[in-house]
Amino acid sequence: MKHKNLIDLEYMTKEQLEQTIRLAGVIRQRPDVYKHACDGKIMATLFYEPSTRTQMSFQTAMMRLGGKIIGFDNPMNSSVAKGENIKDTITVISGYADIIAMRHPTEGSAKAASYYSSVPLINCGDGGHFHPTQTLTDVVTLSFEKGRLDHLRIGLCGDLLNGRTVHSLINTMCRFEGNSFVLISTKELSVPPYIKEIMEKAGCEYTEIDNLKDAIKDLDVLYMTRIQRERFSSEEEYESQKGVFVLDKEKLSYAKDDLIVLHPLPRVDEIAIEVDDDPRACYFKQAEYGMYGRMALIVLLLRAEDSFSFKTPDPIVSEAHKCSNPKCITNDPQQFYLPRNFYKKSGKVYCDYCDHIAE
Ligand code: CP
Repeated sequence: MKHKNLIDLEYMTKEQLEQTIRLAGVIRQRPDVYKHACDGKIMATLFYEPSTRTQMSFQTAMMRLGGKIIGFDNPMNSSVAKGENIKDTITVISGYADIIAMRHPTEGSAKAASYYSSVPLINCGDGGHFHPTQTLTDVVTLSFEKGRLDHLRIGLCGDLLNGRTVHSLINTMCRFEGNSFVLISTKELSVPPYIKEIMEKAGCEYTEIDNLKDAIKDLDVLYMTRIQRERFSSEEEYESQKGVFVLDKEKLSYAKDDLIVLHPLPRVDEIAIEVDDDPRACYFKQAEYGMYGRMALIVLLLRAEDSFSFKTPDPIVSEAHKCSNPKCITNDPQQFYLPRNFYKKSGKVYCDYCDHIAE
């Protein structure tokens, strides 16, 4: 199935990813050339969940390209408050806008919405599932700051279990030669087994460690993450993990001079404020670079021809299966109309919306 909905970066070919990064670089250098690229076009930003960077960088990206924006950042100010489902909202909005950027707290919601959109739909985060434009932001930053996407030793620190950006970044960087990973977390918040399988399959070396000071000295990149409070089932569980890894000046003093420190933001307490002035701290630049990445993505998706589209496997419809993930959109009674779509991989059946195994 060919379409222009960006649900996950995995569905972008390596060539498309490199094309997007290249265009982001050109736009950054010559924004004047692109200031009318989206004249007459409208983007709808539908944010069912809070956001600063993703929402506003998409909005500024569209405006800097000459386009206009509509949308909501509080669904309670829209007819969602009256019980409108995703199907109806997306069907209506795709009649108003030329492109949609949507964030929703429920896993699989982006795929569900894409079924009802007649215009390109970009996933801006569907619960703990995917957040492709954050990964695009990360790789654009690596390309701008390190000049390459291969042969990097990348440390990832913090909540490696719940951090969707971590999973997506590892998955993406495994596509480039010679990258290796240092996974810095507590035992409880280590990366899930399927991510380890991806690294093993790609032949990427990885080590797991629970000490940031010991890990930092050999790194080219340190990707810090926040402990994802909203993904924990109890406050006690969150409290037991909070504040374990904090990057401060003292720890940074063991790092290489050309290390870059990234963070998808928002930060809580995992990077001390004193680090902000160190030239290796790149997280605020990263947030700005994300805007160029999103400008490039919008330009490419709104091209009339089909040259920038994604191929995903055709799902199978089965009433005999049910997604086992309680956080999946298919288990939300309000979205009862969604087709029961699944796919098969290595003899197992998976939910086409949230990629969890089916019952
Ligand atoms: N990194 C990121 O997604 O930030 P926001 O939640 O502010 O959009």
